[in-house]
Amino acid sequence: VRVRAARAADVGAILAIEDEAFRTDRLTRRKLVRLLSRGNCALLVVVARREVAGYALVLFRRGAASARLYGIAVRAPDRGRGLGRRLLRAAEAVARRRGAARITLETDPSNEAAVRLYRSHGFRLVRRLGPYYEDSSPADRWSKGL
Ligand SMILES: CC(C)(COP(=O)(O)OP(=O)(O)OC[C@H]1O[C@@H](n2cnc3c(N)ncnc32)[C@H](O)[C@@H]1OP(=O)(O)O)[C@@H](O)C(=O)NCCC(=O)NCCS
Repeated sequence: VRVRAARAADVGAILAIEDEAFRTDRLTRRKLVRLLSRGNCALLVVVARREVAGYALVLFRRGAASARLYGIAVRAPDRGRGLGRRLLRAAEAVARRRGAARITLETDPSNEAAVRLYRSHGFRLVRRLGPYYEDSSPADRWSKGL
């Protein structure tokens, strides 16, 4: 198992993982291509048995102290094997290397796996955001100092 920067050829696998993982607010090919072309992001994949098994996307803004973990997902059959943890650690390392003082993210408060993952990595709950997702459900914002 290893984590590496994504290549153009990984986009199809990433979108398939995204479609399986989320009901709403999915990353589309168009959005992903737009984000990548701006260059102020890091897209990582975890590779297991030579296949892309998960991804993490970190966004940066010029002059901002915070990096934002915009998305993280592992394909269903590979969950619970430590791949999410590997991706999160790699995302934090990229953000640290790019000089971010902290990394933030939003998650559905009912997403127990994600909440446990973030909590156990030292993220702190910052606040509840109002209607946030496309279906108007709320999100929690989490932050971790780097
Ligand atoms: C959240 C997600 C990325 C975690 O990836 P994963 O590879 O399954 O996670 P790991 O195996 O590395 O587990 C890391 C920790 O996450 C938590 N966790 C993972 N799966 C869990 C589950 N089903 N229930 C509760 N906690 C869980 C645990 O704290 C676990 O640590 P532990 O094994 O020491 O208890 C994965 O479940 C996923 O892709 N979910 C769908 C997409 C998603 O919700 N992404 C987050 C959106 S903000």
